[in-house]
Amino acid sequence: MSNQIDEIRDKLDIADLISSMGVNLRKTGRSFVGFCPFHPNSRTPAFTVYPDTQSFYCFGCHAAGTAFDFVMRKQGIDFRTALELLAARAGVQLKPRSEAARQEDARRTRLLELTALAAKVFHHLLVATAKGAEARAYVEQRQINATTVETFQLGYSADEWGQLFTYLSEKKGFAPEEIEAAGLAIRHESGRYYDRFRGRLIFPIRNAKGEVVGFGGRALGDGQPKYLNTPETLLYKKGELLYGLDLAREAIRAEDRTVVVEGYIDVISAHQHGFRNVVAPLGTALTKAHANLLKRLSHNVFLALDADAAGQRATLKGLHALRESSGQDGAMVPTAQGVLRLESDVALRIIQMPEGRDPDDVIRADPEHWQRLVHQAVPVMEFYLVAYTAGLDLSQPEAQRRALERLLPLLQELNGAQQRVYVSRIEQVIGIRAELIIDLLRGGSSGAKGSGKKPWSSGRRGQTGPTRPSPTLQVPVDAPPPSDDDAPHPAESGYEPEPEAEADAAPKLRLPPRSDEGYLLGLALRHPTVDAAIEAFLEEGLAKHPLMRERFGGGIEDLLDQPVHQALWRQIATLPIEERPTQQEALLAWIEALDEPLRDLAQQLITMSIRPDNFRYRQEAENCARKLRVEQVKQHLAHLYWRARTTDDEQESLTIALTLTRVNSYLSSLQTPRRISTFPDLRNTLGVE
Ligand code: UTP
Ligand code: MN
Repeated sequence: MSNQIDEIRDKLDIADLISSMGVNLRKTGRSFVGFCPFHPNSRTPAFTVYPDTQSFYCFGCHAAGTAFDFVMRKQGIDFRTALELLAARAGVQLKPRSEAARQEDARRTRLLELTALAAKVFHHLLVATAKGAEARAYVEQRQINATTVETFQLGYSADEWGQLFTYLSEKKGFAPEEIEAAGLAIRHESGRYYDRFRGRLIFPIRNAKGEVVGFGGRALGDGQPKYLNTPETLLYKKGELLYGLDLAREAIRAEDRTVVVEGYIDVISAHQHGFRNVVAPLGTALTKAHANLLKRLSHNVFLALDADAAGQRATLKGLHALRESSGQDGAMVPTAQGVLRLESDVALRIIQMPEGRDPDDVIRADPEHWQRLVHQAVPVMEFYLVAYTAGLDLSQPEAQRRALERLLPLLQELNGAQQRVYVSRIEQVIGIRAELIIDLLRGGSSGAKGSGKKPWSSGRRGQTGPTRPSPTLQVPVDAPPPSDDDAPHPAESGYEPEPEAEADAAPKLRLPPRSDEGYLLGLALRHPTVDAAIEAFLEEGLAKHPLMRERFGGGIEDLLDQPVHQALWRQIATLPIEERPTQQEALLAWIEALDEPLRDLAQQLITMSIRPDNFRYRQEAENCARKLRVEQVKQHLAHLYWRARTTDDEQESLTIALTLTRVNSYLSSLQTPRRISTFPDLRNTLGVE
């Protein structure tokens, strides 16, 4: 193939190509200059095309590459597509890559015919048949107008078992296996086929080229599941697709800005109201492929993540997903790098949605409100700063420390200029001196060295609970004596200052600063039954406050804030309870087999959780879970109070007031009488009268 690429390059002139794609080029000496199509500029032409090397370079935004790069970036298409396009332009007949690839191409073509045909059938049913009446009423009720129905080619799947299948197989001659492979039919055990989509409003999902590759189907009423999607097929790879991209691309390029929302309806509603740069993933978190695609499309990405289901916490989760998705080979690398690497290519901003409303709600009620929200979107680091300090009483050194601890890893991955900005922001918000933050950033003090005394740490070092065992991976020889119930367990004694490094402890492994999260995870690693205890505890609270379930979740992962912890937990959770290693050796072997950095983390965590045999680990885990949940709920409350203070929308104020009542009631149910005194009165921490 590489000689074909050369052949295409030789036959095309890059300057011609680029001019023909809407860039005005002026000859200067041996090269051409013009205004760069990849970044907004109208004063100095910084975009340069070099016919000699058949390449381009922009002195403004540093976009660079060959004709292929140009086309890929300009059209937002992948290499294969660019190749086809340029081959056609150059009059080069592409040789099939191989027999297998040729067969796959043929299958693709066939499936594309099928999905295109199905989309037509669905559309026809919606707009022009008696059967479509109910769906038409639904479309109207959702305030989707006729133009939008056409633009998005919305459709309806009849509420019958085999209408589409019969049509495609009997009238159009497609094989049952093909219809199944396109994700349109399901094969019953009996060997009969039936339609996957029945009685649903259909959203055809198109790839960047505008080809229909799959479908989403929404129940017309409260039917379950609410949305049904095409399963992964040769054509439909949900992790690589963005709904609405084919329609949004022009606007994204013109504005150099992409807005990412969560749902089909959000995209549709946005486009209908003239916000055309809006796309959505298909019911998944953003993947690495999405991140790469977004980078190619524009320099500015705005995320409006579901405030509908889980509010700010979901946004954090979404961001974590984004971060984790950026590891190599799709492996999870739970560092902050992803977002920030993404951020160094594109500016990532978070649109803060009003509590309980999604973009569709906002846009329909008041398009200008949506515009304001987009306008007020905050840079991701700023978002973290607010989210991670919400609910903390920053006059307390421990709270300051906690906030900084969360932000430091993120800070570490910013580039120098951005770091400077946020160091001073953090100084301002958290009240820790900039020099100290910079010192820590440079890898200054770490747990095991120096006196361990941190300038912001409080004087509570008298009560750090039992002596920490030395961090070796042996079964504890020097484990602390069983603590009786009155002695403060680490998990109960508030946020624990780092241990003083005793001369004789000489730890090789650097202990991470003690966190409840890490501690809980360590317990769960060591004692699989802790899992059920925590879930039972969470369940008890959620049963009484069902509306909180969606927001906060009922599993261990929902308690964990740090991506690295979540990643480790997901590793553990891949094993069914009965297969989790319980013996020391088995556990260590399991940990040994993990990839870095999870291995290192797991080793540290199980070291932290070493306790004598009769240690009441379930009780301990429950206490820990309670603390974490209380913290989450408080953070959310702080967010709500903040929204309440800042909103000028009456409707929203009412919603917030209602939500506040519910969340407060959940909070008090979590705080058993015995514990109430250990939590400062909320009115003090939140600055609310
Ligand atoms: P939402 O539940 O937020 O729905 O799911 P929505 O977009 O607001 O839709 P309406 O307004 O209730 O009609 C957001 C997205 O998550 C995916 C879909 O892509 C949906 O658009 N999803 C949701 C599913 O894939 N399956 C489901 O059962 C629910
Ligand atoms: Mn909605």
